[in-house]
Formats: sequence, structure tokens, C-alpha cells
Amino acid sequence: MRRAQWKAASRAAIALTGVGALAAGMAMLLAAPAAAGTTLGASAAEQGRYFGAAVAANKLSDSAYTTILNREFNSVTPENEMKIDATEPQQGQFSFGAADQIVNHARSRGMSVRGHTLAWHSQQPGWMQNMSGTALRQAMLNHVTQVATHFRGQVVAWDVVNEAFADGGTGARRDSNLQRTGNDWIEAAFRAARAADPGAKLCYNDYNTDDWTHAKTQAVYTMVRDFKQRGVPIDCVGLQSHFNSGSPYPSNYRTTLSSFAALGVDVQITELDIEGASAATYRSVVQDCLAVARCNGITVWGIRDSDSWRASQTPLLFTSGGAKKPAYDAVLAALNNGSTPPPTTPPPTTPPPTTPPPGPGGCTATVSVNQWTGGFVATVRVTAGSSALNGWSVTITLPTGATVTNAWNVNRSGDTGTTRWTNVAYNGGVGAGQSTEFGFQANGTSTGLNPTCTTG
Ligand code: XIL
Repeated sequence: MRRAQWKAASRAAIALTGVGALAAGMAMLLAAPAAAGTTLGASAAEQGRYFGAAVAANKLSDSAYTTILNREFNSVTPENEMKIDATEPQQGQFSFGAADQIVNHARSRGMSVRGHTLAWHSQQPGWMQNMSGTALRQAMLNHVTQVATHFRGQVVAWDVVNEAFADGGTGARRDSNLQRTGNDWIEAAFRAARAADPGAKLCYNDYNTDDWTHAKTQAVYTMVRDFKQRGVPIDCVGLQSHFNSGSPYPSNYRTTLSSFAALGVDVQITELDIEGASAATYRSVVQDCLAVARCNGITVWGIRDSDSWRASQTPLLFTSGGAKKPAYDAVLAALNNGSTPPPTTPPPTTPPPTTPPPGPGGCTATVSVNQWTGGFVATVRVTAGSSALNGWSVTITLPTGATVTNAWNVNRSGDTGTTRWTNVAYNGGVGAGQSTEFGFQANGTSTGLNPTCTTG
């Protein structure tokens, strides 16, 4: 459903651009680079991704606000309206009016909805704050079930659990009434969410999990890896990515995104805002997401600076007056990937390569492995030779005892011994010299994986 929506948006964007280019004349058409969208949502869709905003129900009557929302974004996250205090203000009495308003606004305009959030230590209603033990566990699970059931089929991804890890260097869970019901409260929430809405992607969402070296990032990574190994239903990790002077954009952000993705989950940037809205930093965030196949969307936490929970930091893409900021232009250009001006000095001429590239039709495959005791995730990179590929096939012989349990971006035949991996519909076409990646998870050890690639 979501992919179809992206594809439709992407087709529409290409069609529109085609009309515009024709109107501008053939000379322009010949000189122009690849089609480029003119809004955040359309440009993201061309990259197979969404671009979203946090939305407040009480602003939907502000036409300056909805004009930007409807023009630029193709995903929406209710900023507060799906939180526990909003949806279950009295125990057992559910209230969905404001959230439904946002969901209806979004879906009637073809935007997808991220649900935020089912279980959290913060913004709990008074009755829940006062609960503990088994009664709280039951109340939490009932809440997850009722809310996920209400929005079943309308929400593409849920932040099932939000902010469950402590800050600082310990990597420990955050103390909260929910945590005190037992360490398994997170997986219990995920299982209840899956049962209530089997079609939604289920995410774990947190902040200060952007720097790969931080203990909190590693602790979340270890939990997600454990969930994948034990079959706890988790599909995605959300990085809030509220960047400011105390918590700046880290240079290893791309490593964090790709490391989570290598566990076999989608990665989403869920609450992006950047103090001062540096265009360069916004550009880097977008480029990092585009570089990771499973980073499938970005949400900014508000539309105009005046809509931000941290308005004094002016951290968003639009001024309070609704004008596009330099950061907006940087994000759009990064999404359009290559529409940035070419360098003014020509690149130095390089000597011919000493080893010729593979002949027409050739491809190569390389593998990188993340091994832990008892299992591993392998990321396989398929690179086209001097001709574009229209389909590829990789053979990998697994060592004795290794069994594939899960794979993504690929079709497979065989789980043990000699395994054969072929492209799926969307990654069979690889340009000359370009690459695509797929991955799989397996039990056992990864010694001696030696992928070979053939075309077709
Ligand atoms: C914030 C909202 O933006 C504010 O309006 C509200 O007062 C507090 O919550 N992490 C989250 C979001 O997961 O839900 C928070 O949203 C910002 C931090």
C-alpha cells in the first residue's frame, strides 16, 4: 500500500516535470539533468522514500499552515494527539477525535501516517502515572491493543515504544513505572501491537541514539538485535534526531543508520530538527538517509519555526512567516540528488585503470558480515561492470550449521549449503559501475562466505 502510494506519487512527479520540461523547450530538455521534484514529498518519492512533518490538530484550521503541509509533505505524524494522555484520558475511556482529524486530513490527501506513540514514560494520563505492577502492565497492553486496533489499516508505522533507554554512559533502561513492571515490557508491547494491527510496521523510537559510539545507541542496537534473533516483532528503528549544541549531528550518523539497517529493520528519521537550521547539516542528514537503502523516510518535527516545540532554536525548514529557508533548498537539492551545481573546475584527468573493468554484462558481489555468538547479518553488495544489469543472481555457499532465517531486498532459494539469491523487482536494474545491496540474517557462523555474481 505504502510502496504503491510512493510509486504513484513518483509517477505523478515525473509526469509533471516532463510537461514542465517540454514547455521550456527542447534545448532545455536536452541539457536538463534527470527529473527533479519541486516539493519535499515528490522528491523523496522519486527516491522511494517519504518526507513527513509532525502535525498539530489545532493548526489544521490555519490555512498558511495547511498550504505548506499539503504542498510539501507526503507523511504525517500527530505531534501529541496519539499519545496516551490524549487517547485514554480516563482509564478505559478512549478519545480519538483529534487524532482522527489528522489521520483523515492526511489520508484524504494521499499522505501516509506514522503513529506516535503507544507506550511511553511521558505524557501519561494521571491514572496511569499512579499505577504500577501487574495492573499497570495490563493497562499498558490494553492501551496498545485498543489504540492500534482503532487505527488499524490507517497507520503505516507505529512508534510502539518511545524513549525507553537512559541517557549517559550506562546503556541501561530508563527507570519508569513501565520499566518497573519488568524488563520484558517492551517486547510485550510489540507483541500486542502486532496482534492488533499486523499490517503496520512496528518501530522502537528514541533520541540521543544518533552517535554510533554512544552507550545509549549501542544499547538500543543490542536490544533490536536480540529482538530479531528471538523473533520479537520489530520492523523499524526511529531516530528522533533533535540536533542542537548539546546533542549535535554526529559525523558517524550514516554508520548508525546503516548498522541498524543491517539488523534487518527499516530506519526512519522521525523527529528531525536542527538548532539554527544549518543548511549543510540538513543536507548531510538527507544524504546519509539516501545512502542507506533501508532508511525509508524523514519526518521533521513541525513545519514553520513557530510550530516547533523548540521555536526559539528556529530549527525547521520554514520561517514563522512560511517562507522557505536555506535549509529547505538544501534538503530539496539533496533529495533531487545531483541537481546541485557541478564544480566549476574540471576534475583532474585520471590515468587508465591498470585492471580493466569486467566486460559487458559482468557483475561482482562482495559481502560484509556482522557476527555475534550464534548468528550473523550479512550485507551483500552487487556491483555492475561496464554495462548496466537487468537482473542479477548471487551464489553463496554457507558453512555447515549456518541457516538463513530472514532476508531483505532479495529473493532466495535455499537456506543452507549452496544458496542462490536473485534480485527483486525494484533492484534488478543496476547502472554500469553502480551498486545495490541486499541482506540476510542467519544462525551459525559466517566463515568463508564467498559470493559470486552472474547476470540475469
Ligand atoms: C513534544 C511535542 O512536540 C510538544 O508539543 C509536547 O509538549 C511535548 O512533546 N520526543 C518525542 C515527542 O517523542 O513526542 C516530543 O514531542 C518531543 C521529544
